[in-house]
Amino acid sequence: MRARANAGANIAFIKYWGVRDPEFNIPLNDSVSMTLDAARTTTEVEFSPRLDADELTINGQPAFSAARARVSRHLDLLRERAGVPWRARVDSWNTFPMGAGLASSAAAFAALTAAAAVALGLRLSERELSRLARRGSGSAARSIYGGYVWWHAGHDDASSFAEPLAPPDHWDLRDIVAVVAEEEKAVSSAEGHRLAHTSPFLEARLAQVERLLPRVRRAIQQRDLTLLGPCLEADALAMHFVMMSSTPPLFYWAPETVALIKAVHAWRDGGLPVYFTIDAGPNVHLICEAADAERVIARVRALDYVRSVIVSGSGEGVVLE
Ligand code: PMV
Repeated sequence: MRARANAGANIAFIKYWGVRDPEFNIPLNDSVSMTLDAARTTTEVEFSPRLDADELTINGQPAFSAARARVSRHLDLLRERAGVPWRARVDSWNTFPMGAGLASSAAAFAALTAAAAVALGLRLSERELSRLARRGSGSAARSIYGGYVWWHAGHDDASSFAEPLAPPDHWDLRDIVAVVAEEEKAVSSAEGHRLAHTSPFLEARLAQVERLLPRVRRAIQQRDLTLLGPCLEADALAMHFVMMSSTPPLFYWAPETVALIKAVHAWRDGGLPVYFTIDAGPNVHLICEAADAERVIARVRALDYVRSVIVSGSGEGVVLE
């Protein structure tokens, strides 16, 4: 009862921030993302009657108990469904540097869900995998699919799942991550999603999301970066305003984050079509077309405060190995 799966992280153009139901990770709004080809996780799961407890390694190292408990809770959902009580050994490897501040939970829970389902002999549709992956980490619902992906918020466990909008080769975009800090985040996204309700700007952001979503859909369909870019910047900023105005406030930016935002504005004014988005951390994701990637990478590398650069294209969804 062993299986192995590989999945990519994803970068959201319209973000998921705020939960309606924390037990099922039912979000407050639809979100849209691109699955990444360079930031990926491979996970092998083996269920065995000889194990007394679930075991977890990440990049060859035994994981901390909090991570093990989270994986165990997720495996319980799959065990319950299969009617199999056995514990599992889980080995997981990331292709991107750990501690680079990249959200790895989407790739991790997409790969874990797919591998565990196959190991348990469950024959699940991609939609069922997306719904289950969502329980581990909301954004993992999107990483089941490759390319450009839409997560329907829905209103309950049955209606909240992701769907593909376009395959990876539909549009050759790049996500160039300028890593400025490598610390672990002080507040988990699970906690942040619960705090969103305390922000007086939550309603304003959700109203803006409703206006941006159809534009983002059209921009992806028409491969129009001048339409997509302003939408992804507007939503990243609105999400961070909600974070900053929550009680207690969540402030993920570093001084370098602001410096990069200003650099992107200056490069664009100079004719280079590149836009930024920012997840729950200080690192800045620069989104551009493949044809402009080398110029953007050269400019980012020239900034002395950027510690490293990770370049991803649009990648496949979950793949069984
Ligand atoms: O899936 P979570 O709970 O780690 O939340 C992801 C939150 C953001 O990365 C900030 C936004 C998103 O939609 O990916």
